[in-house]
Amino acid sequence: MELTLGKTDQRVQFALWAVVVLGGCKLFRKSCRKGKSLAGLPEGPEPLEPRSQPGGISGVWQHAWGFQDDFEHEKKATSIHHSIDSAGHPVAIITKPMLLAKMEAESGAVTTTIARESRLRSLTGIQNVGRLTEVMEQTLIPLIIRELSPNGLTSSGLMTHFDQHLRASLLENPGIDTTSLSDFTGRHTFRAVAGALFGPTFPVSAFEDYALFVKDMGRIDGPFSNWVPSTRRLRAGRQRIMAAFSQYLEEWWYADGLHTIPGISPLVRRLLHGAKDEELDLEEACGGLLAFLYDAHFNLWSTTAGLISQILMDPSAHQRVVDDVRAESTYCFSRLLDSATYEALRWQPGERPQRHLSQDAVFNIDGMQHALKNGTKLVLDLWGLHFDADVYGDPLRFDVTRFLDDSLPLPRSFGEGKRMCKGAYLARLQVKSFLYHAFRTCDFNFTLPENMHTEKGSSTSNTSRHYV
Ligand code: HEM
Repeated sequence: MELTLGKTDQRVQFALWAVVVLGGCKLFRKSCRKGKSLAGLPEGPEPLEPRSQPGGISGVWQHAWGFQDDFEHEKKATSIHHSIDSAGHPVAIITKPMLLAKMEAESGAVTTTIARESRLRSLTGIQNVGRLTEVMEQTLIPLIIRELSPNGLTSSGLMTHFDQHLRASLLENPGIDTTSLSDFTGRHTFRAVAGALFGPTFPVSAFEDYALFVKDMGRIDGPFSNWVPSTRRLRAGRQRIMAAFSQYLEEWWYADGLHTIPGISPLVRRLLHGAKDEELDLEEACGGLLAFLYDAHFNLWSTTAGLISQILMDPSAHQRVVDDVRAESTYCFSRLLDSATYEALRWQPGERPQRHLSQDAVFNIDGMQHALKNGTKLVLDLWGLHFDADVYGDPLRFDVTRFLDDSLPLPRSFGEGKRMCKGAYLARLQVKSFLYHAFRTCDFNFTLPENMHTEKGSSTSNTSRHYV
């Protein structure tokens, strides 16, 4: 069965996108020129939660579901909103670009450490994660900034290797195949990212555990998680991923770097030497690598999944992208792919950057004094900006050509300030590369699972969407 979209109600289209790309039930048919069956594999990135706090992701979901007045009011009222999280801690949600960076620059009370530490603990399962957090922040991440710059990428060949691994992965299983979109994007991006960073000895089969684990990571350390069977399974998955890293690294680690890991990137080599110099133990080094892999892969996965689903739901965009990539001999100079990548980043800004206050502090924002308490969580949420009709006309329409207009401000999906994404340049190239190789290698037909045909068929019966 194929889904054909006509001119649909935008809210329904947005909601369908959210369900299809990020939710549990999604399926599409990939008729690869050379590809084989991948059905029945795990689902991909977890849904981004709708409005968990006032002023949060909120805006766009409200917008999508039609509560526009509230959104407009909220958007114009202030650039910082005060709230409380489910554990009763104060939260300040920042909705204006560069304000978080300014607060960081003005006050030493704004710290990246608490968010980083809690993320590292959830990702790695290491309880005493203080030393790793400090080394990541002060040594390891600064070490890789040059490697991820345009010059560093050219000399290391990281992007060339990404392309090679991606092509090999897409061409590996010839034939006709039905798989979920999120599995398709997750699996191939994982193989390309991990292959380019860690070389061919990295166990890419760790994707199964990784995929199950990262989409539910938020639940892993909840108050009753020890007793909940599904959480115990997540923890077991996390242990297996750490064990896979340990197996990959052990020989090099105990040979004190004398042995060479085949195909390893200069970037990861730097990370490993940095970890050795800082006298991390093997478990901490594995945790650092896993955290880096997660940073390098997870957002890429959700961005490519969102982008491809939008293209497949719009036949004219689909045709345009196919014509473009099949006429070009490289993705490097395609303005359409640039534009599509920026539109995907606008549409789905990804994880919201977080900081904390390590003491009480007062900030002067837009002429108003905001006194924030020690422990307040600062959350940067630019969804409102990305869907601001004054900035991006018809913001709920996904338009692959939108950013052909050079005068538009670029989306701000890579965060800002001290922890801003270090891989932003690489990430944009990778999204373009994925689009280029996927649409050159495969012919896609978009389908919905049987149960969704029934549900969506009735819920969209008053639109011109239909199934054939
Ligand atoms: C579409 C893809 C990507 C998006 C949307 C994205 C977005 C982000 C965001 C929002 C942050 C947190 C920023 C903050 O807290 O202010 C971040 C951090 C980071 N990203 Fe990315 N990212 C992507 C791809 C990549 C890639 C490909 C790499 C590297 C190969 C990478 C490396 C990092 C690193 C190392 C950090 C942590 C920086 C730090 O803690 O100082 N990212 N990314």
